Amino acid sequence: FIDCPELGQLRIRYNTCVGVPLRGEQKGSIQFVKESSDPVADAINYDSTLLNNEVNLVSSGSGFFFPGFVDTHIHASQYPNAGIFGNSTLLKWLETYTFPLEASLHDLETANVVYETVVRRTLSNGTTTAAYYATIDPKSTKLMARICSSRNQRALIGKVCMDQNSPGFYVESTDSCLRGCQEVVDYLQNELNDSKVAPILTPRFAPSCSRDLMTQLAAMAAKDDLHIQTHLSESISEVEWVKSLFPECETYTQVYDRFKLITEKTVLAHCIHLTDAEAKLIKSRKAGISHCPISNSSLTSGECRVRWLLDQGLKVGLGTDVSGGFTCSVLATARHAHLVSRHLAMKEQDPELREHLKLSVPELLYLSTMGGADALNMGDQIGSFDVGKQFDAQLIGLESSGSNVDVFTWQRPGAKASKTSPPLLTNEDLIAKWFFNGDDRNVTGVWVDGMLSHST
Ligand code: GUN
Ligand code: FE
Repeated sequence: FIDCPELGQLRIRYNTCVGVPLRGEQKGSIQFVKESSDPVADAINYDSTLLNNEVNLVSSGSGFFFPGFVDTHIHASQYPNAGIFGNSTLLKWLETYTFPLEASLHDLETANVVYETVVRRTLSNGTTTAAYYATIDPKSTKLMARICSSRNQRALIGKVCMDQNSPGFYVESTDSCLRGCQEVVDYLQNELNDSKVAPILTPRFAPSCSRDLMTQLAAMAAKDDLHIQTHLSESISEVEWVKSLFPECETYTQVYDRFKLITEKTVLAHCIHLTDAEAKLIKSRKAGISHCPISNSSLTSGECRVRWLLDQGLKVGLGTDVSGGFTCSVLATARHAHLVSRHLAMKEQDPELREHLKLSVPELLYLSTMGGADALNMGDQIGSFDVGKQFDAQLIGLESSGSNVDVFTWQRPGAKASKTSPPLLTNEDLIAKWFFNGDDRNVTGVWVDGMLSHST
């Protein structure tokens, strides 16, 4: 079992057995983690009423269990446009590619095909939890929630809210938007009845939300203690537009804060062009940040200063931001975040700071799992293999069928070393090989709440 419970830590536990009941009150939650040569005896020791056949044993074989990835920002509705963005930048891209596509998912059959595909694809890439944006349509948003529930993926599901500065074919009145949100919240909380799938209020971004809408969404969030997600400080033209729309606020962050949208349960995507004061404000509200490096490079929005955020103790996770980002793979997104941190480092003159700006593989694997869990305020439930957390995991096989990760026999830990043989690899090296060359072919099994969601 390998996980990253703290920033920079890579915890490797060998010959380990994790106990997860598949029914009863503790269903899906980790009861024990211990070193073991006899997992069956451990399970029966834990609950003597278990007969041999009632213990469902899953062994890692030659691979390892890793916590499921947490995608803190993904637009399920934009998946058909993954890879389609040309040379556009944010505001033009929204108008040209994004709004027409999202509007087309009003058709439930189309929405069903798209959402089924996204959930299947994210699961097969190891994503066990995602904070999704659907569209402004409550019906297809509820459909997305049903799909996550039936495919066994943990999810926050947001009906997109926009009541101004949007095209006529894709906008709502304030009232109809609020009614739609309440409909989705009620459905998820009272009808779907799946604790893995929860609502998240989703004011798209400040330009598309009236003051009245933001005020009422914040009230709705406060009343039911709901999650909130939105975009913040993604591109310079967006920041300038927000300044002109909300002249009463000194910064973009203050717009959301004035309307009480920044809470412990808020996740803010991008946060590239923040001032010191804005970072401080987000920190004081204990909100999370979703770093979306592939989207930021693709739309040439900028380079998020992740180290600067982490040094201030801000909660940061990774977001694929499909389809600003072209892939729904969190692993690919983590690799890109690794490179973006190096691009920032290359622009730094001070040699010590230059080194400091680089994010390491263990740090990025932390952001992909535990960091994302914290950014979504779910860190006590998921993100690592600890007693009391839900068992959300992926089984990684470096030598699975079709694997793109090549490990030569003489490189393997334990291979016979001699003065003349090429260097052996450590387990940390093997993790790095997976990080840089791995993909969905290495994900041989995925579990959410202890139940299998995907296997090859
Ligand atoms: N800002 C407002 N809407 C969007 C969106 O759909 N994607 C991204 N990346 N930024 C946005
Ligand atoms: Fe986005």
